[in-house]
Amino acid sequence: MEEAAAATAAYAVQESCSLDHYLSQPDHTMDERIALARARLGTDVILLGHHYQRDEVIRFADYTGDSYKLSKVAAETDAKYMIFCGVHFMAETADVLAKPWQQVILPDLNAGCSMADMAEIGQVENCWDALERAGLTGDLLPLTYMNSTAAIKAFCGENGGLVCTSSNARGAFEWAFARKSKILFLPDQHLGRNTAYAMGIPLSEMVVWDPYQINGGASTDRLRAAKVILWKGHCSVHQRFLPEHVDHIRRERPQMQVVVHPECRWEVCQKADAIGSTERIIDVIEKAPEGSSFAVGTEIHLVNRLAKRFAPLGKEIITLDDAGCLCTTMYRISPQHLAWSLENLIAGNVVNRIQVDEDVKHWARVALDRMLEVQA
Ligand code: 13P
Ligand code: SF4
Repeated sequence: MEEAAAATAAYAVQESCSLDHYLSQPDHTMDERIALARARLGTDVILLGHHYQRDEVIRFADYTGDSYKLSKVAAETDAKYMIFCGVHFMAETADVLAKPWQQVILPDLNAGCSMADMAEIGQVENCWDALERAGLTGDLLPLTYMNSTAAIKAFCGENGGLVCTSSNARGAFEWAFARKSKILFLPDQHLGRNTAYAMGIPLSEMVVWDPYQINGGASTDRLRAAKVILWKGHCSVHQRFLPEHVDHIRRERPQMQVVVHPECRWEVCQKADAIGSTERIIDVIEKAPEGSSFAVGTEIHLVNRLAKRFAPLGKEIITLDDAGCLCTTMYRISPQHLAWSLENLIAGNVVNRIQVDEDVKHWARVALDRMLEVQA
């Protein structure tokens, strides 16, 4: 009898912790469960939320921010568990920066980043080998955007380079140019191009490396002449903002300011009034006088949240395009996944732990430490 009761109880615990159980419940039923679990776990847990997260999730975050700010928090916190409401590369970064006794959880492992997937370590090594054969690596420093795998960050660290985010890309370029005359920038060609151009490097001194073409699709002469070699990667969300969208706003709403993320294409950034990371976009709007209006070129959850937050202050905020661009992978983190991760922690289970291999960690940490020294 007792055995049967124990088995039933064990089954009930298992059942209540299984993801399917959570996914079959509506969003709003998770609120109380998340709040209760957070209260029970106390300071053992911190919840980090990227600005692109949906409202039902980000409202529970202890810290919200862009990837630079959140990686700084990850490097400084002493909480035993970090629950990262963001995407895979952010959780990997937190694990690299974590102390040995800390654990990082990504509530849904499907929350990846299509841009980070556009550069694989094998392709990057092949690129480097080709550049070495062309005699170019002596003058070259690899620099990767945060939106990349830990293995690519480690590659950069081991080859004298570093990581940057959209908020300190310029400082990272300056850091690199103080040491070498050329940069290989991975994996976002747009952030690389926008940053280099803003520093006065003409487009003619940049070349795109296409990992699916022989020799990157560029002649050795072009590669030799270039100051910046841009990996052919992009963000599928920001790619959707077009110069025509800016023209439309200028025509229809001439008072409106256009603020865009540097993952947008160069042609869009050139027409914008301001360019910046998610944190900077918020800052620009915050500091603007009452009555200002903005068309914003970034992920729709952040745009909608800003519109709601600033409407009572007399500021109007709309998306730059006509539909709104959604990051479907950021959207994977649901209140159900969050409640599931938290309640499992209470039950003593660490689910969806993100763990970077020890041999990758060392050099990735070197590259990230260099990044943290470069001011945003
Ligand atoms: P941040 O500007 O917040 O660093 O954003 C970049 C991003 O692409 C998150 O995926
Ligand atoms: Fe990746 Fe773009 Fe989504 Fe950021 S917005 S996580 S770069 S796909």
